[in-house]
Amino acid sequence: MRADDVISCHVLVIGSGGAGARAAIEAQKYGDTVLISKSVVGKGGCTPMAEGGYNAVLRAGDSCVLHEEDTLRGGAYLNDPDLVQVLVRESPERFRELLEWGALFDISSDNFPAQRSFGGQRFPRTCYAGDRSGHEMMLTLLEHLRNSDVKILQEMAVLELLKEGDAVIGTVAMDARSGEMTVIRADCTVLATGGGTRMYDISTNSATGTGDGYALGYRAGATLIDMEMVQFHPTGAVYPYDVRGRLVTEAVRGEGGILLNAEDERFMARYDPQRMELSTRDVVARAIATEVEEGRGTSRKGVYLDVTHLPAKKIEERLPVMLEQFLKFGVDIRCEPMEVAPTAHHIMGGLQINPEGKTSLSGLCACGEVAGGVHGANRLGGNALAETQVFGKRAGESAGRAPSRQGRIDPLQLEAVENRVERFFSGTTPPWVVSRQLQKAMWENAGIFRTQIGLRDALKVTESLLDVPVCAVSSQNITECFTVRNMCLSASLVARSALLRPESRGAHVRSDVKQTWDAATSPYGHTWVSLASQGIMRQEVAG
Ligand code: FUM
Repeated sequence: MRADDVISCHVLVIGSGGAGARAAIEAQKYGDTVLISKSVVGKGGCTPMAEGGYNAVLRAGDSCVLHEEDTLRGGAYLNDPDLVQVLVRESPERFRELLEWGALFDISSDNFPAQRSFGGQRFPRTCYAGDRSGHEMMLTLLEHLRNSDVKILQEMAVLELLKEGDAVIGTVAMDARSGEMTVIRADCTVLATGGGTRMYDISTNSATGTGDGYALGYRAGATLIDMEMVQFHPTGAVYPYDVRGRLVTEAVRGEGGILLNAEDERFMARYDPQRMELSTRDVVARAIATEVEEGRGTSRKGVYLDVTHLPAKKIEERLPVMLEQFLKFGVDIRCEPMEVAPTAHHIMGGLQINPEGKTSLSGLCACGEVAGGVHGANRLGGNALAETQVFGKRAGESAGRAPSRQGRIDPLQLEAVENRVERFFSGTTPPWVVSRQLQKAMWENAGIFRTQIGLRDALKVTESLLDVPVCAVSSQNITECFTVRNMCLSASLVARSALLRPESRGAHVRSDVKQTWDAATSPYGHTWVSLASQGIMRQEVAG
C-alpha cells in the first residue's frame, strides 16, 4: 500500500472539534487551509458532547483577576500562569464572537447572557445553552467553517506527522473507508485532536477520544507536560451498563443538585463543608470514590445525585438533555435521584505550548485538550470550551503567520508508515482485544487513587500492549490498528508521568506517599516526557 496522492497547503489543522474548527477559521485568513478529521466533521470529538458551559467574565462583580485566581487555585497551582492570563482575558471576546456568529446561548431576565455556578468558582460565570452548550457552539462554528475557504477532509485518520530535520512539514493520512493514503504537505500544522480518556474503562469521551495527538506529537519529538493529570469527572452515569460513564453534567449541581450516599447523608459536608457539591472536580470525585470504597455507596457502586427538590419547570428548562437521557434509562429525575460515579473525562496535560500555541517543534502548533499547561492539575468545568476558542484562534493565527517552506518529503519516512500498514495485515490480535486490556489496566492502576506499585504495573501493561501484533482484516480497519497503538502509547505516557510525580496534587493522588507540603508550597513543577528525556521540574519553595 502506497501514499501516492500529495496535497499542498499553507496550514493543516488536524481535528474538527471546537479548537480545530476555530483554528481553521483563523488560519484560512492567511492562506490555503486544510482541515482533516477522523470523524464526520462536527460529529466526533468532545465539543459537541460538552453540556455545561463556557466560562467568561461578563458582569460587574466578576473580574479577570477572580477568574484567574479560581483557575490557578482549582489547578493546584500547576497551571502555566501566562496561559491562564490569556485564557481569562480573551474568553469574553471569543464568547461575544460566537454570539455574533449566531450561537444561541440562554439569556437571563436582564437580557444578558445567563450564567450559572460551576465548581471551584466564586462567581457564577458559566454561560450556557441549556445543557447542550457544546453542541450549540459546534453548530455555530461549523456554519462559519462551511462558509469559509477551508478545505475539509473527513473520515480520514492521520497516521504520522512528517518531518524535515526538526520541523514538522505535514502528515500522511488514510481514508478510513478505502484505506487509501494521502500525503499532506503544509507550512505549518495545528494539532487539535482533543483528549484521550478512552484509554480508561469508564470514560465520558466519544469513540474518537483515543489520544492520537499525544502519540503523534510524542513520536515526532515534541515535549509533553503533566500527562499524569487526568480528570475524573465526579458524575458519570452508572447504569445501564452500556452507557456507564456517560456525562451527567456539573450543571446539575450548578442548578442546585445535591449528592447523597446510600445512607441518605449529604456527604460532601465531610470533604468540603464550604463549597459542598460545588467543590472542584478532583475533590468531589475523590469524595464519591471514598464513599463507595468505604461501603456507603449504592449496590451499583455509585452515589445519588438528587434534583427532586427543584421545581420541575427548572429541570425541564435548564437540564432538558439530562431529563431526556434519564427518562430513556427509566428514571424520571423530577421525582427520583440519578445514580452516578466518577468517570475519566479530560487530560489536563499535553503538548507544551507557549501563549501563541507553538509547541517545542518548529512547524507544529497545538490547541485544545491535546495541549497542556492551561489547567494545571485540575480543570475547572467551563474552562475547556473557553480554551478551545481562545487558543484555537491563537494557534490558527500563529500557523497562518508561519513562513512558507517547501518541505521535502522523506521517502524513508513514508516507507516506514507503509511498512507498518503492511504488518497489520499479518497481525494476529484484533485491536479491540488490546483496547479492552488497556482500559482495564488503566482503570485499575492509574485511576483516582494511585500507588507506585500500581503505576509500574500500568506502565508494564501499556508498554507490552504496544508490541502486540494487532491485525487488520480489511482496509477498513487499518486505521483502528493505528488508533489502538496511539491509545497504548498515550496511556504509557500517563503512567510514566505519574511515576515521575512523587506527590499528591490536584487530580493526581498518590495514596502511598506522605507529604508535608500542599499545592501552593510544593517543591515540584511540571513533569515532562519526550523522545529525548523525561523528568520533573523542581522549584524554589518560598520561605
Ligand atoms: O459537567 C460538564 O458539563 C462538563 C463541563 C466541562 O467539562 O467543562
